[in-house]
Amino acid sequence: MSESPLSAVATESGLPQHVAIVMDGNGRWAQSRHLPRAAGHKQGLDALRLTVRACLERGVRVLTVFAFSSENWNRPREEVSGLMDLLVMALSREVPKLSRSGVRLFFPGNRDGLSPRVQSGLDKAQQATAHNQKMVLNVCFNYGGRWDIAQAARQLVVEGKEISEGALCEVTALAHVGDPDLLIRTGGEMRISNFLLWQCAYTELYFTPCLWPDFDAAQLERAFADFAGRERRFGQTSEQVAMDRSSGHA
Ligand code: FPP
Repeated sequence: MSESPLSAVATESGLPQHVAIVMDGNGRWAQSRHLPRAAGHKQGLDALRLTVRACLERGVRVLTVFAFSSENWNRPREEVSGLMDLLVMALSREVPKLSRSGVRLFFPGNRDGLSPRVQSGLDKAQQATAHNQKMVLNVCFNYGGRWDIAQAARQLVVEGKEISEGALCEVTALAHVGDPDLLIRTGGEMRISNFLLWQCAYTELYFTPCLWPDFDAAQLERAFADFAGRERRFGQTSEQVAMDRSSGHA
């Protein structure tokens, strides 16, 4: 399995260059305060803002977050429409600030089923930040890992191409950034929940009971410190990894 150039940098510095996050726990955060679930999502947006800032300060190159899954359509109608409204509101408020900070936005996910208002908001935000180079922020919206693999395979079939690992890597939804080094999941559950199934083959997993609205720069540092202590072997032995490192290949 080949490693992306970004991953190679990460291994050397100990800092993950591509961080993915399952932002779980908004509902419980709200319920424990006797607030509606929407209040948890709103607070979750604040936590996302803090995390983006912390990642920028630390020099993370790519942040990929799970904002709305293919399965989230099964939630109560008001919660789904609340999340759509929150996204549109967040885009109009945050995009100018993100752009000034050098953040380039992408929205990996299935555009089918999203309203024209949401689709146009995503397109505009993507275009408005297309020139930025400091950090990529992938906001996965209407995304599912199985959808991603299926859409990639379909694309190869339509193009008459062979279905190989390399070809799939080029058409899956994170082809523009490569695989995450670190996947953080807040909220205490220890599962992937149909997030980046293809891309997380060699990603380090970090689970924390912290509910997403409580996640902050200090929590992020804990995850980074844990990551720095991991040995990433990509199928090799420890001895091979040490040899590669001493010969400057890691
Ligand atoms: C999971 O928590 C979280 C979500 C389904 C939504 C994530 C959205 C945000 C963090 C806000 C940012 C949003 C946008 C649109 C940019 P949960 O509701 O499943 O929590 P629970 O497990 O405690 O019920």
